[in-house]
Order: sequence, then structure tokens, then C-alpha cells
Amino acid sequence: MSESWTADQMPDCSEKTVLITGANSGLGFEATKAFAKKGATVIMACRSPERGEQAAQEVAEQLPGGTGATLNVRQCDLASLDSIESFAEEVREVYDDLHILCNNAGVMAIPRSETQDGFEMQLGVNHLGHFALTGQLLDLIVGTEGETRIVTHSSGAHTAGELDFDDLHRQRSYSKWEAYGQSKLANLHFAYELQRRLRDAGITETKSVACHPGYADTNLQYRGPEQSGSRIKYAMMRVANGVFAQSASNGALPLLYAATALDVEGGEYYGPGGLMNMRGAPERQESSDASYDEADARQLWERSEALTGATYSFEGLVTA
Ligand SMILES: NC(=O)c1ccc[n+]([C@@H]2O[C@H](COP(=O)([O-])OP(=O)(O)OC[C@H]3O[C@@H](n4cnc5c(N)ncnc54)[C@H](OP(=O)(O)O)[C@@H]3O)[C@@H](O)[C@H]2O)c1
Repeated sequence: MSESWTADQMPDCSEKTVLITGANSGLGFEATKAFAKKGATVIMACRSPERGEQAAQEVAEQLPGGTGATLNVRQCDLASLDSIESFAEEVREVYDDLHILCNNAGVMAIPRSETQDGFEMQLGVNHLGHFALTGQLLDLIVGTEGETRIVTHSSGAHTAGELDFDDLHRQRSYSKWEAYGQSKLANLHFAYELQRRLRDAGITETKSVACHPGYADTNLQYRGPEQSGSRIKYAMMRVANGVFAQSASNGALPLLYAATALDVEGGEYYGPGGLMNMRGAPERQESSDASYDEADARQLWERSEALTGATYSFEGLVTA
């Protein structure tokens, strides 16, 4: 891969349908822009239709003429299994193909709260919501002709994460960073286990890949301070983002690379290769030893199926 890979090097996407969760902000917004520049049909899955439409308008205004891109904003709240189900149904009704699914949306280090279904919010949105969504779209993705990809956004914070199978929802004791770390480790277990299950089912044209953006200046860092009402922490985050973070457009590059580059294989992990893996051009990386623990991954998968009611059936799925 090139030292200085940029989104300009993405292949033409005019025949591709791409679904991005959290497409209205930060990395999802930048990824939407990059795919649209390459002519893709982008399904922008946003929890707020208003913020989604505003973002779509902004992307459209910045697009050069003649890309042929289509932006389709649809409501999906990953903190609600009902919302995920309705959204997935709509997608399956409207689209015959889905080439790339970007499991991107996320929340970080927020005070403890719960999803509509009683899941701890960070695990619920970051992992369980995407687990349910992917399960409901898998046959569409696998049935799409040619190579398809499912890319899941993790974080360097997964290295500090631990799965607490006795208290996944952190009801006994809650630390906002431990809960975030757990959710981002769960993202990796999901991405790798999905790849193993695809492989075992003989499905070779669909790849599950993971990535992380390093440290990028987005809204992510402000949600915790906003929700806890801490102006000091908010101001500190502003300074830290201004000094240490790379731009959101650079932060989106590992996701874009994982989603489109030709040398990407299923089960791989991409992140920025520069200073402390916080910035720079995307490269293939290794995640923590814990993230490759297959027994943990299987256990998390089973718990995720039980919690979300999403049942993944690989039998009978046939690559088009
Ligand atoms: N930025 C970084 O430095 C960094 C580092 C490591 C990993 N990441 C990962 O990158 C991903 C994208 O984050 P970002 O930095 O782009 O943050 P961001 O600017 O805050 O964007 C997050 C997106 O997720 C959406 N979202 C939050 N809760 C949702 C829900 N319940 N249902 C549906 N969508 C929801 C947000 O929607 P609203 O706008 O409606 O809130 C927003 O569109 C996350 O998975 C994050 O963990 C980011």
C-alpha cells in the first residue's frame, strides 16, 4: 500500500451501493463525501433525519458536477432494535444490492445510560446495534454480485477494553472509559468472528474487515462532556483536539481503505501508520492479543444473538 494513500486513490464506485451508519457527522460524513465523489449510491443511516438531510445537502454542495452519486438519508437509531429492524426492512425493500456496509456510528465515554432495549449505551450502539443490523442485511450483502465488504470501526481504545461477561451492561460498576473500551473490543471480536463464520460457510466474496481512525477531530470527544454538563472537560477536549487530532477527513482514510482497496483481505485491521498510530496514512496493523481470542469471540457472538434476537444463518447464503 502507498505511504501517502488518499481518498482520491479509491476506485470508481459508480456501480456500488454503500451504507454508512452515523453518516451525518465526523468520519461517517467524510466517508460519505469520499464515496459520493467516486459516484456511489450512499445510504446515509442517521438517527436524526434532520441532521442527516443537512449533512446530505452539505455533501451535495461540495461535490463536483457529474459524479452521478446518489445520497439517500434514512433514519436508523442504533439504540433501538425496533428502529434497526424497520430500517433494515426498508433497505431490503428498496435496494437489490449492497456492496459495502460501514459499521461506523458510535458514542464514546458518556455517562451511563441505556438503549431502548436496556443495553448499556456504548455496548448497545457501538456493538449490539451493528451486530443486529449486519445480521439483518447479511443475505442482501452476500447475495450482491461481486466482492462485498463489511467494515467495522473500532478504536485504539480497544487495547484497554475487557469483556465482562458477568456484567456486560456494567450495572454493578460503571466507568465510561472501560465501557467504551469493552464496546470497541467487541467491535473487533465481531469483525473477526464474522470473517471466520463467512469463511467456514465457504463465502469468499464477502469480507469482514476492521479499522480504526487514530485520533481525529470530530464530535465524538464532546458527547461525554456535553452529557455530563462539564464545561471544563468540554474545553479541555477542544484544546486536545486542536493540538493532537488529525482532521476528520484523514481519520476516515483507514475506513475508506478497508472498504475499497484491492489488497485488503477479510479479518484484517487497518489504522493510521504515523505517530503512535494516531495519525497518518492507512496501513495494515495488528490489534491486541485479546481481540484474537476465538473463545471470547464465540461467547460474545452467542450473547449478542441472545440479546438482540438477531440470528445469523450462514447456511443457504450463496455468493452471487
Ligand atoms: N474520532 C476519533 O478520534 C475516533 C477514534 C477512535 C474511534 N473512533 C470511532 O469512529 C466512529 C465514528 O465516530 P466519529 O469520530 O465520527 O464521531 P461523531 O462525529 O460523534 O459521529 C458519530 C456518529 O454516530 C452517530 N450515532 C451516535 N449514536 C447513535 C445512535 N444511537 N444511532 C445511530 N447513530 C448514532 C452520531 O449521530 P448524531 O450526530 O445524531 O449524534 C454521528 O453521526 C465511532 O465508532 C468511534 O468509536 C473515532
